[in-house]
Amino acid sequence: MVTYNKAGMRLDRDYRIGEVDPRLFGSFIEHLGRAVYGGIYEPDHPEADEMGFRRDVINLVRELQTPIIRYPGGNFVSGYYWEDGVGPPEKRPRRLDLAWQTLETNAVGTNEFVTWAQKVNAEVMLAVNLGTRGPDAARHLVEYCNHPGGTYWSDLRKTHGYPKPHAIKTWCLGNEMAGPWQIGAKPAAEYGRLACETAKVMKWVDPSIELVACGSSGRGMPTFPEWEATVLEHTYEHVDYISLHTYYGNREQDTPNYLAHSLDMDDFIKTVISVCDYVKAKKRSKKTVYLSFDEWNVWYHSNEADRAIPRWSFAPPRLEDIYNMEDALLVGCMLITLLKHADRVKIACLAQLVNVIAPIMTENGGKAWRQSIFYPFQHASLFGRGQVLLPVISSPVYDCKDYSAVPYLEAAAVWQEEKKELTIFAVNRDWQGELVLETELLGFPNFHLVEHLVLEHPDLKATNTKDHPDTIVPRANGQTKVVDQRVTSVLNKLSWNVIRLRQIQEE
Ligand code: AHR
Repeated sequence: MVTYNKAGMRLDRDYRIGEVDPRLFGSFIEHLGRAVYGGIYEPDHPEADEMGFRRDVINLVRELQTPIIRYPGGNFVSGYYWEDGVGPPEKRPRRLDLAWQTLETNAVGTNEFVTWAQKVNAEVMLAVNLGTRGPDAARHLVEYCNHPGGTYWSDLRKTHGYPKPHAIKTWCLGNEMAGPWQIGAKPAAEYGRLACETAKVMKWVDPSIELVACGSSGRGMPTFPEWEATVLEHTYEHVDYISLHTYYGNREQDTPNYLAHSLDMDDFIKTVISVCDYVKAKKRSKKTVYLSFDEWNVWYHSNEADRAIPRWSFAPPRLEDIYNMEDALLVGCMLITLLKHADRVKIACLAQLVNVIAPIMTENGGKAWRQSIFYPFQHASLFGRGQVLLPVISSPVYDCKDYSAVPYLEAAAVWQEEKKELTIFAVNRDWQGELVLETELLGFPNFHLVEHLVLEHPDLKATNTKDHPDTIVPRANGQTKVVDQRVTSVLNKLSWNVIRLRQIQEE
């Protein structure tokens, strides 16, 4: 007897959630562990370019086509003097980084990072320090980066070898300012006032920039969501986005429960949208504040090992999570969740990019390779740009420890008008067997299958390593049939699926 589950999805060409902002596929590099030193930058490495950046890492980052990369933190930014990282390298001070209790040489700073970002075809999303600093340092940094010339800070940039402005568009007003672990953490009203005054002067220097105010560092914070409401009361007309951060882990080794955590992310997003719109209503404002989910990922594997790192080491292997197959599935579910909110979530940053809770790992002096989570992120970034359709989904459900009625199917569909491509992203959370997905296309005639990519592994704890980098890799061997406007796909148990369809053009 065949024991498979069935799920259904109806997609209508005219029913859409919204346009994907390419920044939804952003990432993050912090001065933390081996993200910068030993990750993107290693002057003694055989693959180092003329600036000391690893070419092998640049090539892997390019494969992800991530359009924006947040920098320089994270917790690090709350004690950072950006002036330390510009100008002649030999004059740059070595500092204690209190956020991660490490030594910071400042060999890489804003100009080097902007240059590296250009090499990987990404913009930079720059965070300013609102922990130990304020409006003055922030406005000077905007002037240094974005003003064409003829002023102290813009001319200083020129003397540092950067005649053209960096034209940084997206800026974060600090990082996780609600968290007691943050250098210079503040109550919401105090941060709200500081963020407002900082936002004003930054935009007075360059009115074209966009600003992200700090939301809570997670929905588990005791001050959530009052923090968001208070911060927005102070900043609403001066900022464009409010940030969200979340990390999940499978500490209890309960896979059905773990894979349901994207429901928590979904609820988090909905709550923050409600808070934004409540403040909008209260202020009788015509403006909409959007969401910047600028830190999200799985983070727990490295927690224990990190406790043993001695203080004041330089670029220690910190937050080096080794991701397995089930992590890739949750990352896939989180990507689908972000797509489903493409109308309000305009920026999202997979935290982080290299070595630190990252899709890309490196060995100092040695190899670089792709972790399991690399692939769902890459697929979403490559094929998830366009209009997200509003799907009507029916799926069998299950109950688990923290959630009830969890659909076995997590899915979203994106229509790329110019390429005439429709891509269905789907995770089968079912650990017991395959799921047959029947997708009905309304107003979408003449499609054929381009490919059905599948990421799966019989061992959910399998990982990619330096010596076995291809244990978890996608294969274009998925079973999908298209008959008229009906697409039938077999979603293997515990698999990530990318079903790429293209419309045959009428002659
Ligand atoms: O991404 C790692 C850290 O997580 C960041 O520095 C901080 O913002 C968050 O708590």
